[in-house]
Parts: sequence; C-alpha cells; structure tokens
Amino acid sequence: MKIVALIGSPRVEGNCDILVNKLVEKLDGEKECFFLNKLDINPCNACQACQKGDCVKHDDVNDIVAKIEDADLLVFSSPIYFGQISAQAKTIIDRFYMVAQNPERSLEGTKVIQIYTQANPGDSFDPYIESMKMMPFGYLGMEVTKTIIARGAGPKGEGIEEALKEIEELEI
Ligand SMILES: Cc1cc2nc3c(=O)[nH]c(=O)nc-3n(C[C@H](O)[C@H](O)[C@H](O)COP(=O)(O)O)c2cc1C
Repeated sequence: MKIVALIGSPRVEGNCDILVNKLVEKLDGEKECFFLNKLDINPCNACQACQKGDCVKHDDVNDIVAKIEDADLLVFSSPIYFGQISAQAKTIIDRFYMVAQNPERSLEGTKVIQIYTQANPGDSFDPYIESMKMMPFGYLGMEVTKTIIARGAGPKGEGIEEALKEIEELEI
C-alpha cells in the first residue's frame, strides 16, 4: 500500500503532527509524510493551463500531487482555524485542480483518512468537516473511509487522548 500523509498545521510537534505520525507509524506500506508549512506551496493561478498539460507552477506541490495520484491512501490533516481548514491545507487542495481539470489525470478511488484538531470541545464544526467528504474529496472521486476529530485540543499534545486511542484501535 502506498500512503501519502499531509500535515496541514504549521506547529511542529503539534496535535496534527502527533496524530498523523501515530497513524502513519501504525500503517504498513510505502509511506511519505509532508509537513506542508515547511514546503514551497503556492496558490492556484486559475490560468487553466492544467486543462491541456502540466501546472505552470514549479513548486513542491506538483510532486506531492503526483505522489497522491499514485497512492492508495491519503492521510489528510488540518487544525480548524476560524471554523475551517488551515491556509496550508486549503492551498494544496486548490492545487488538486491540476488533476480535476486534466482528463488524463485522476485521483479516483484513492482512500482518505482525515484528521482534524480543534480547541472547541463541541461539535459545531462537524457539518463543515462532514462536508469535506463531498467537497473536495468526493468530487475528486476519493473516498473518505475515516474521520478523526480531536476536540478540545489546544496546546501541543493536550486534549488529543481520545483521538490517539481511536487511531490505536483503528482497523485498516
Ligand atoms: C489562527 C487560529 C485559528 C483558530 N481557530 C479555531 C477555531 O475556529 N475553532 C477552534 O476550535 N480552534 C481554533 N484554533 C485552535 C486550533 O484549532 C487548535 O489549537 C488545534 O488543536 C491546533 O492543532 P495543531 O496543534 O495541529 O496546530 C485556532 C488556532 C489558530 C492558531
């Protein structure tokens, strides 16, 4: 199994970092983990060049998206910032346009495990998180097989016990 993991939080050793590493450790296969904030990741230009060929941007995203196309499983993670995913996570999602717009490319069938972290202990962001299954992942033909939400997670490593347990008990 080929696995690509994306850490969408800028906090090194933060909650996404801890949870994603815990999950990746548990998975068997060829694994690559990317800490988005350390990479050269730029927003989509909306130039539509990808409809006829490669993305015109030459940053780290092209390689990562190609690896996700080739992968069986994407581990996608982000902290919740103002009720949404981080800018780092959103920027790479917008660049999935290079696949969505190009008939020769596809993410169809790739499984996704999502991990979200939030300080809020409640479920008010659940509808937003649920919508990620449809857009972007469902739209791209990807299948979200599991969503893990660390609620009440503030400082690094605090409030993630239940999410860690969920990962430990996860059967893949
Ligand atoms: C800019 C910013 C915005 C945030 N907005 C929210 C929010 O809307 N709701 C919430 O519950 N937590 C919010 N938080 C808290 C983080 O989601 C929370 O601390 C999370 O566990 C961080 O995960 P990380 O350690 O992987 O970065 C915000 C934090 C930052 C820095």
